[in-house]
Amino acid sequence: MPPSPLIARTVPSLRRAVDNLRKRKSTIALVPTMGALHDGHVSLVRLAKRRASRVVVSIFVNPTQFAPTEDFGAYPRTWKADIAKLAAEGVDVVWHPDVAAMYPEGFATRIVPEGPALAGLEDRFRPHFFGGVATVVGKLFTQCRPDIAIFGEKDFQQLRVVTRMAGDLDLGVNVIGSRTVRERDGLAMSSRNVYLSPEERQTATTLYRAMKDSAGRIRAGEAIGSAVARGTEMIEAAGFALDYFDVRHARTLAPVTSLKDGPLRILVAAKLGSTRLIDNIAV
Ligand code: PAJ
Repeated sequence: MPPSPLIARTVPSLRRAVDNLRKRKSTIALVPTMGALHDGHVSLVRLAKRRASRVVVSIFVNPTQFAPTEDFGAYPRTWKADIAKLAAEGVDVVWHPDVAAMYPEGFATRIVPEGPALAGLEDRFRPHFFGGVATVVGKLFTQCRPDIAIFGEKDFQQLRVVTRMAGDLDLGVNVIGSRTVRERDGLAMSSRNVYLSPEERQTATTLYRAMKDSAGRIRAGEAIGSAVARGTEMIEAAGFALDYFDVRHARTLAPVTSLKDGPLRILVAAKLGSTRLIDNIAV
């Protein structure tokens, strides 16, 4: 077993830990998370280990990316199991600030991303979200000063927003995307899947099936509009309340009208009961 990771809870102790890693001329990868770790998160850690000599994982449930009506209080917190998983992967440092360490009394500065953060996807339904994500990820980058940072394609618009921000603000961090890890039946792993009842858990696979169906139709030459209509129908017939089911340019997230506008990405967000799920695939 590799040694347990060092756990830093204040900015000065994190800085000391990262400075120590740096002294050995290592390259450092950061994997930002909100904890409740599953195999999707673990896959990011494994990619981080392949791409850098040292790995820092942050665990921080970031209040500024939740609206007051959302699940900040109920968000799953599984600290002991998380640390066991990170220890087994040989993670060097876990950055686990509390809210007061991240947002001290009087905190008054925010990063307001535009471009991909205003693509009309997640931002339409969670207008507070990318401001909160950009602000906390900007802070995580300056706190840890990693060479690279790994983000999941599962949150595709987030990956685009963070990549743009790192470039725009010259943060000196190379943002790398990592493939979505799925359950055997296709459901994308998510910390929020624990909210699903057994019945909802079965229905939840419809999202992936609908995206695969639409992607196949588009590749076969069907008009994007009719492929989207078919996917929408499948998802609504299964009992979801759909936020969006959309085909976009994979890099810019701009709307597209034909396969030739590609590379294309299908993105979906829908609620099943009170659980909101998001997913996406390449066409
Ligand atoms: P969280 O939802 O914990 O996700 C942390 C990272 O894991 C994100 O980059 C996310 O895309 C990735 N991830 C989640 N499920 C995945 C899956 N099934 N396969 C591959 N990667 C997956 O995203 C956040 O936290 C927060 O917004 C954060 C970036 C930490 C800022 O607070």
